[in-house]
Amino acid sequence: MNASNGPAIHEALATAAREHLIRRLPKAELHVHLEGTLEPEMLVAKAFHHGVQLPWAGIEALRAAYRFENLQSFLDLYYAGCGVLRTAQDFHDLTWAYLQRARADGVVHVEAFFDPQAHTARGVPLETVMTGILDALNDGHAELGITYRLIPNFLRHLSEEDAEATLDALAPWYTAIHGFGLDSSEVGHPPSKFLHVFARVRALGFPVVAHAGEEGPPAYVAEALDVLGAVRIDHGIRAIEDPALVGRLARAQIPLTVCPLSNVRLCAVPDLARHPLRALFDSGCLVTINSDDPAYFGGYIAENYRAVAEALGFSDAEIKRLAANSIRASWLHDTVKARHLAAIDAV
Ligand code: ADE
Ligand code: ZN
Repeated sequence: MNASNGPAIHEALATAAREHLIRRLPKAELHVHLEGTLEPEMLVAKAFHHGVQLPWAGIEALRAAYRFENLQSFLDLYYAGCGVLRTAQDFHDLTWAYLQRARADGVVHVEAFFDPQAHTARGVPLETVMTGILDALNDGHAELGITYRLIPNFLRHLSEEDAEATLDALAPWYTAIHGFGLDSSEVGHPPSKFLHVFARVRALGFPVVAHAGEEGPPAYVAEALDVLGAVRIDHGIRAIEDPALVGRLARAQIPLTVCPLSNVRLCAVPDLARHPLRALFDSGCLVTINSDDPAYFGGYIAENYRAVAEALGFSDAEIKRLAANSIRASWLHDTVKARHLAAIDAV
């Protein structure tokens, strides 16, 4: 080694050590759409298997289409991708592949979203969707040690009546479901559009989460809390525009499930260095790091941690706090949380 490459070697060692830390830390992933984990290889293979015609010539052409201007341009492709998921085996393969990938990133617990209406609207029975996903999640628990909660989301571009019909259709699986959420096109579809269905969700005893403040204004975050009774906000990054709201989120320790690479890919933020995650964290908000739709946004959970640490200068101690936040913000039992928190401390 000569004197000039000493700093480069030091930097490479520090990067490797950080990568090791991120993967070793027990983490909960609280914001991942199972349909958003559909990798191009599986998408193309399933299309071939089912004889589905795709508008892309192959995997490379498909990857090249993953250039999004906003949430809607992504959702158009995401729903098109859902079209290859037809059998319980498809939903099992999708979920199982995600779980294996998550395990490699040190995920010990997942609270996974799925979009029932994206499938029932195409004529795929709920039974098919639920059987495939639940079998894989149970296999993941048994074989990979990953605990789980399952959260159906209502699509906000559809009507409240459609959401209510979906809530009714899910009744046979209420014991296998742990909460309900709200996703899809945000702007123009405020949380209050779903006032009645979420009142029913709460009356059934389920906790509510909602995508809010991803593209929509801070007022949608406040509405999700006040009108829907959300206990956790998915994204929530535009809360940063309203200091009083940030104060409220911090005081009440309402978890925010932030998805940094998603926000960059969907142009919700100009770049990672200007992501509000750092300001929200420094304001005392309970922020967590998640992958959202990792197959489309270029990174699973560890990659999100790594990118954030680099762009926003998170120290090792702060990375550990982010992992601890994910456990605290989860719906795990307190005894299990205590075990994971102790393991994070010990890393
Ligand atoms: N559905 C899948 N990913 C989503 C996102 N990032 N925002 C809203 N709806 C979604
Ligand atoms: Zn999401």
